[in-house]
Amino acid sequence: MTPRSVIIDTDTGIDDFFAIVQALRSPELDVATLTTVGGNVPLRYATRNALRAVEYAGRIEISVIPGAARPLRGRFHYAPYYHGPGGLPAPMPRPKVYRVLRDAVDFLHLRATGIRARKVPFTLIALGPATNVARLFRRLGETKGRNSLERVVIMGGAVDVSGNVTPFAEFNTWNDPEAAAEVFAGDIPVTLVPLDVCNQVRVSRSDFAGAEPTARRLGVAWLKRHPGRQLGLADCVAIAAVADPGAFRFERIPLEVDTSLGPERGRTNRSGSGNTIEVAVEIDADRVLRAIRERAFAPPPPGDPLQGSPSPGKARSRPSAAIQS
Ligand code: BDR
Ligand code: CA
Repeated sequence: MTPRSVIIDTDTGIDDFFAIVQALRSPELDVATLTTVGGNVPLRYATRNALRAVEYAGRIEISVIPGAARPLRGRFHYAPYYHGPGGLPAPMPRPKVYRVLRDAVDFLHLRATGIRARKVPFTLIALGPATNVARLFRRLGETKGRNSLERVVIMGGAVDVSGNVTPFAEFNTWNDPEAAAEVFAGDIPVTLVPLDVCNQVRVSRSDFAGAEPTARRLGVAWLKRHPGRQLGLADCVAIAAVADPGAFRFERIPLEVDTSLGPERGRTNRSGSGNTIEVAVEIDADRVLRAIRERAFAPPPPGDPLQGSPSPGKARSRPSAAIQS
């Protein structure tokens, strides 16, 4: 089996962190690079947490490239209340190795259109607001059909279920509805992994029983901050949809994003006039949860270096958006 070449775009909060580790330990995926976007936390914290994730997984050769600090319109609404002040619920070591390049969209554009790179098709998995993806689509305008970006897989939207940040909207789509709308309307194939399936994968303390100590510390810290709740792992579900699509049923659905400034802003609506998108509509939640426990939580195979001693990382945060899960 040849692993699928992927780039992960992340606004690294707690579920993104586990999703990156899961992806790096998925033999079906070849993760070359991470790009970052504001969303759960300001861009610089998202980048720092992405570096932490690659170091934690012992994959320091992977570059992390910052992208958009703002959505296409206005400002991001951060969620420190949900993820922790710097995007993680417990202190983690400061990253030691910085391989931060300049601009995510410049890099993605070159990866998609460069003569040598074009020979290797890749999938872009977006775990945060779709801002970088929309900016990339604008740049690709002239090269559509002649580039190596074969698919974009987006964690976002709430098709037939309630939103998690407003009654109608899911956090990523709500944080940059204009970007999601542009990406849905584009001509590069999109697969949406919405709350409809993500809501079915949540973990509690017992799921961290056999976990590697740092993974358990992060998970338990989040559960202590949110008594009586389970931790949702939406971004891990999006990784599973690429690594193990057989655990899902997909349907093609015409979808539009509400870009009004009204109460339904960010809602993903079934609409006859919208572009038809592939949407994950059913999930084998036990199978996906098993993979997450084995790949994101469990101790790594022998010889795979893991980080040790946590040191406190200070992080200030902007006003929060309360995510319900
Ligand atoms: C999504 O929003 C973020 O809080 C999570 O990281 C996930 O990408 C869930 O709605
Ligand atoms: Ca995310």
